[in-house]
Amino acid sequence: MTAAIIDGKAAAAALRQRIGARVGELAKQGVTPGLAVVLVGENPASQVYVRSKAKQTVEAGMRSFEHKLPADTSEQDLLALVGRLNADEAVDGILVQLPLPAQINAELVLEAIDPRKDVDGFHPVNAGRLASGAPSLVPCTPLGCLMLLRDLKGDLAGLEAVVIGRSNIVGKPMAALLTAESCTVTIAHSKTRDLPAVCRRADILVAAVGRPGMVTGDWVKPGAIVLDVGINRVSAPELGEGKTRIVGDVDFASCAAVAGAITPVPGGVGPMTIACLLANTLTAACMRRG
Ligand code: GUN
Repeated sequence: MTAAIIDGKAAAAALRQRIGARVGELAKQGVTPGLAVVLVGENPASQVYVRSKAKQTVEAGMRSFEHKLPADTSEQDLLALVGRLNADEAVDGILVQLPLPAQINAELVLEAIDPRKDVDGFHPVNAGRLASGAPSLVPCTPLGCLMLLRDLKGDLAGLEAVVIGRSNIVGKPMAALLTAESCTVTIAHSKTRDLPAVCRRADILVAAVGRPGMVTGDWVKPGAIVLDVGINRVSAPELGEGKTRIVGDVDFASCAAVAGAITPVPGGVGPMTIACLLANTLTAACMRRG
């Protein structure tokens, strides 16, 4: 079998189109959703993400507020900024880019964000709502994965889903979303016994561990859907000395030979993450402004 390659770029473009249309309707009522992105320090990967977020926010017709703070910013100063953004009527969504420098307690900062403006879905109130099946702002990467799965499969009820990775950002919310879709969900992690055998049960296999190429074809049930959340930079001497490239957690070639459908890296889950950030900003604006 050769897997269908899931085109996350096209799915993200279609989602942005729908968001743009809805933003256009809101504009007629005098409402323009606004997203504030806070970047502390000069992590190059974070700088790329933040630029991309700002560009796509504006392209969707929303307002983008960028706050770039020096790497030695104090926790107190960052909390003060979050407080101002919470109170700012023009700001519907607040995203504080992670990772934060060591002197700042990230948990404290994320908990300071107004849950109604928490477009990352990382606030404990939103995590708790998701876990209890109540409407909430949902973390963008798992939300993007769910949208890809629904596009592909429609009803997911009764399917076996295995999520590799138990992070608060991807693994746990992904498992909660799949549970809400009536999948039978297993969360696997570094201590899981016989991980390949667990993965081979999966109709839906989501890899979110940050280990390049860990999932190989012999872990995949024939016909399964494989979603690769990994973004790993590895050295690529074949491209020239000192060159690097981005690979996922899934060994694409061997898994594509077995799976029914698979996301590539790049161009799979990644583009959906930012599109879902825009979707969450629109949702937050609609919820808060009634
Ligand atoms: N850093 C890497 N991914 C993310 C994300 O989804 N949200 C935030 N806030 N920071 C990140």
